[in-house]
Amino acid sequence: MLILYGFGGVGRTLVEVVRSRTDLKISAVFDSRGGVLKCGGFEKPEIEALLRSPRGGVSRSGVGSPAALEEAFRCAEVLVDVSPPNYADGEPAVAVYRSALKAGLSIVTANKAPLALRFQEFEGKPVYYKATVMAGTPVVDLALGLRGQRPLGIRGILNGTTNYILSRVDLDGLSFADALEEAKAKGYVEPDPAIDLEGLDAAAKLVILANALGVGLSLGQVRREPLRYLGPRTKYVAEADLERGTARVSPIQLGPDDPLLSARYSTNAVEITTEVNEVRVYGKGAGRLETSLALLNDVLRAARERRCR
Ligand code: HSE
Repeated sequence: MLILYGFGGVGRTLVEVVRSRTDLKISAVFDSRGGVLKCGGFEKPEIEALLRSPRGGVSRSGVGSPAALEEAFRCAEVLVDVSPPNYADGEPAVAVYRSALKAGLSIVTANKAPLALRFQEFEGKPVYYKATVMAGTPVVDLALGLRGQRPLGIRGILNGTTNYILSRVDLDGLSFADALEEAKAKGYVEPDPAIDLEGLDAAAKLVILANALGVGLSLGQVRREPLRYLGPRTKYVAEADLERGTARVSPIQLGPDDPLLSARYSTNAVEITTEVNEVRVYGKGAGRLETSLALLNDVLRAARERRCR
């Protein structure tokens, strides 16, 4: 039984995916204004009514009964966090994770802020976060699989929106202003554009990847320069020297043979260097469907691991 914490674009896509591909049940849905609960799980017409409810409107949908989050903990095993990130302090999600974990639930999250700010606190707990970094491409699994090798560095194109903008300028000759407007019109840019354009999203992903590799990098250690076009082959690169503990997100004009140049438009890429390896992965980042499928993969894993406990 699942609790959905957040009911925007990704939350709604996840509901569709869960409904069409699994027999999992959703027992509660919460948005910014409240939530509804049905301990036995919502039936198909109730799910449809929830999907028709406007943003912020689940508690007025007439589905289930209005409930506080703590009540919902009694009827679920997994809480899925698809709420927007708050990079100031990670709240309210951090407090929600604490109480849900205390009540014995597992957490599956697409929200980067709690982990980017408090990774150490949630390390070793049943918190699954594959959807936070390059959601369409399981690089968190890769990083976890490299544990044991001494990690030396990460370099990546971790934000699809800014890579799209730079690619439109670099490859298609648009002005920076036009490319930015186009990205906004296509709905790529976050509601708070600074999260993309000032590197916060990429920095948070870099921090999560470093921690998945076992290095306690924090968000405050990542220097950030805003997105700019510097000339041919400009990429918005997130990089960390994991031995020195230095990290930055900045626009860089890459050399003509740099492998990161192959990540075009909204494609993401990451290069992880360890004492014995240099691994490069290219692939999809965080579209709604990609993120929902990564969340589903983690939900299934959380359920499997709960059965083994
Ligand atoms: N705005 C992000 C991106 C998606 O463009 O990659 C959420 O991580």
